[in-house]
Amino acid sequence: MLRTHTCGELSAKTVKETATLCGWVHRRRDHGGLIFIDLRDRYGFTQVVIDPDHGDAFLLAEKVRPEWVLQITGTVRKRLEGAAREDNPTGEIEVLVDDVKVLNESKTPPFEIDQEKEVGEELRLQYRYLDLRRERMQRNLKLRHNVCRIVREYFHAQHFLEVETPILIKGTPEGSREYLVPSRLYHGNFYVLPQSPQQLKQLLMVAGVDRYVQIPRCFRDEDQRGDRQPEFTQFELEMSFVEQNDVIDIMEGCFLKLTKELRPDLKIQKEPFPRITFKEAMEKYGSDKPDLRFGLECTNVTELVHGCGFKVFADVVEKKGIVYAMNVPGAAKFSRKDIDELTEIARNHGAGGLAYIVVKSDELQSPIVKFLGDAAQAIVKETGAKPGDTIFFAAGEFPDALTPLGEVRKECARRLNMIDESVWSYLWVVDFPMFEKSKETGAVGAVHHPFTRPHPDDVEVFAKDPLSARANAYDLVLNGVEVGGGSMRIHERDLQKKVFDVLQITDEDAERRFGHLLKAFEYGAPPHGGIAMGLDRVCMLFAGEPNIREVIAFPKDQKAKDLMLGAPSPMPEEQIAELGIRFIEEE
Ligand code: AMO
Ligand code: AMP
Repeated sequence: MLRTHTCGELSAKTVKETATLCGWVHRRRDHGGLIFIDLRDRYGFTQVVIDPDHGDAFLLAEKVRPEWVLQITGTVRKRLEGAAREDNPTGEIEVLVDDVKVLNESKTPPFEIDQEKEVGEELRLQYRYLDLRRERMQRNLKLRHNVCRIVREYFHAQHFLEVETPILIKGTPEGSREYLVPSRLYHGNFYVLPQSPQQLKQLLMVAGVDRYVQIPRCFRDEDQRGDRQPEFTQFELEMSFVEQNDVIDIMEGCFLKLTKELRPDLKIQKEPFPRITFKEAMEKYGSDKPDLRFGLECTNVTELVHGCGFKVFADVVEKKGIVYAMNVPGAAKFSRKDIDELTEIARNHGAGGLAYIVVKSDELQSPIVKFLGDAAQAIVKETGAKPGDTIFFAAGEFPDALTPLGEVRKECARRLNMIDESVWSYLWVVDFPMFEKSKETGAVGAVHHPFTRPHPDDVEVFAKDPLSARANAYDLVLNGVEVGGGSMRIHERDLQKKVFDVLQITDEDAERRFGHLLKAFEYGAPPHGGIAMGLDRVCMLFAGEPNIREVIAFPKDQKAKDLMLGAPSPMPEEQIAELGIRFIEEE
C-alpha cells in the first residue's frame, strides 16, 4: 500500500501517530511561512501543513497545483484552538508533513473540482472523470452502489436467484424503437439489444427458477428526456405461482427497506402504500402517476354542464365526452400571466384551452360564466370552492382530456407551495387498460406489452371490447414519477393467441417474432408475473437530483451522444464491409 490511512480516516484518536496519505490537491493556501493543503480522496479531506523547517518538502509544496497527486508522510496533531472544523470528520486534526512526494502532476482542470459552482453540462460530460471527482457525484455513485447492495441483499433473503440474461438477443417488445447489431457471420441478419429481459425472465419461469431477480441494462432508441436514457438499468424480478398482490407486496417491502436505510430523514406518507385503479387515478388527479403529496382532486361535472350554453362543454357532452373541474384553493391570487402560463401547459398536453372560474366573495369571474348559466353555481357547490379559489376545467374524451388538468394540478401545487419535501408519497396504480389506440395510426396496441394478462374479470370479454378491457398490470409511483411497472403474464398458448388476434399479430408474425416463447409455453409454463423498476429513476429520487444523468457514471447527453468517448462515431470502411453493409448516400 502507498498509504497508511485514507484522507477521511484520521481523527483526534490518532494524534501523535505517523501517517502516510495519498490523494489529490484539493486546495492550497499559502499563509506566509506555512503552506496548507487539503488533500482529497474518495473518503474525505485531510488538512496537511508544510512548514519551512522541512526544506525539501516546503520547496515542493510551493510548486504543487490543484489536482496534482501527492503522497505525504507526517505526524497527526490537533489543530489550534478555534481552527477546528466540525463539518469535516477530520476537522479536529491536521498532519504536519515531513515528506512530500509528487506521484503525478495535473494540467489545470477545465472546471474547478473544489466548488459546487454551476458548470455547463457539456463540459462536465466531456470530462466526466473529473466531474466524478466532485463531492456531489461521489455521493451519487455511493448512493447507487447502496441501492444495488440493498436490492441484492433483500431479494437474496427472499430466496430470489440472480440470473444474467444475454444482451445480443432477438427483440423483446416494450413499445420503443430497438437498437440493432448487424451480424458479421450472417449478412443481412441482426441481433437486437433488449429493451428489457422480459421474454427471457418468462422463459426462466418455464425453466423452474421460480424467483428471478436481475439488475440488467436495457436499451431503447427513444427521444431523450430528463428521466430517460437510451441505455438504462432496471432492477427487476419474475415470480411463479403467485398473484398480483404477491408481486406488489414483495416489491413494496424492497422500497420500504431502501427508504428506511437510505433516507431515514424522510417520512413515508402512508404504509402500506395506497393502491388505486388507473381509472380512479385519471378521474381524481388527471394522471396515471399522480403526486399525492398534495390534494387538489378533480370532480366530474359532466352532468352539471349537460345542455348548458357554453358550447365547448355542451358539444363534448353531446359526443359522450366528459367535463371535469378542479378546485384550487388560494388560486384566485394568480395573475393574468399565471393563468396564461397554465393555459400554455394545458395546450402543450393536448387541451384546446383552459377554462376557469375565479371565485370572489361577491361574484364569479370568468369569461365562461355567462354561458354556463345556473351550472356555474352548481359547479362551485359540487367542487366545494370558496372565495379565493379558482376552478379549472377539462373537457373531451376519457382519459386523454384529463391529462392537461393533471399537469395544471402539478403546476398549481408548485406555484402555491403545497409540496412538503420531507414526506414521500408511494402509490400503486393498478388495473391499467389492456389496449390502447394509436393516435397516429389508429391501430390497437398493448399498453404494457403483449404478454400481459387480462384482468380476471375481463378474461372472457376482452376480445369483444378491447379498449375497455383492463389488464393485470400495475405501476409503482413515487412523488409523481413512475418508478416501475409490471404485470401478471399469460402462460397459456390459447389466451396468448387471443391477445395476438386483438393486436392483429398474425400466426406467422407471432411465430416469427415470439415463436420461441409460444413453443416454451407448450411445455408446462407455470402461472407467473413480475415487475421492473427503473434503477436510474429510483437513484435520482433518492439522491434528490433533477435528472437521471446525475446518477449514471457515464451517461449519454440529451442527443444520445457520449461526449467523453465521442460515440457514436464513424467506423473504418473494412469493418463495415465485413458486416455486408453499404451506405445510401444521404442527400
Ligand atoms: P417498463 O417498460 O415499464 O416495463 O420499464 C420499467 C421501468 O423502467 C424505467 N424506464 C426507463 N428509465 C430510464 N430510461 C428509459 N428510457 C426508461 N424506460 C423505462 C421506468 C419504468 O417504470 N419488462 C417490463 C417490466 C415487467 O413487466 O416486468 C418493462 O420493462 O422506471
Ligand atoms: P374557445 O371557444 O375556443 O375560445 O374556448 C373558450 C374557453 O374554453 C377558453 O377559456 C378555452 O381556454 C376553454 N377551452 C377550450 N377547450 C377546452 C377544453 N378541452 N377543456 C377546458 N377548457 C377548454
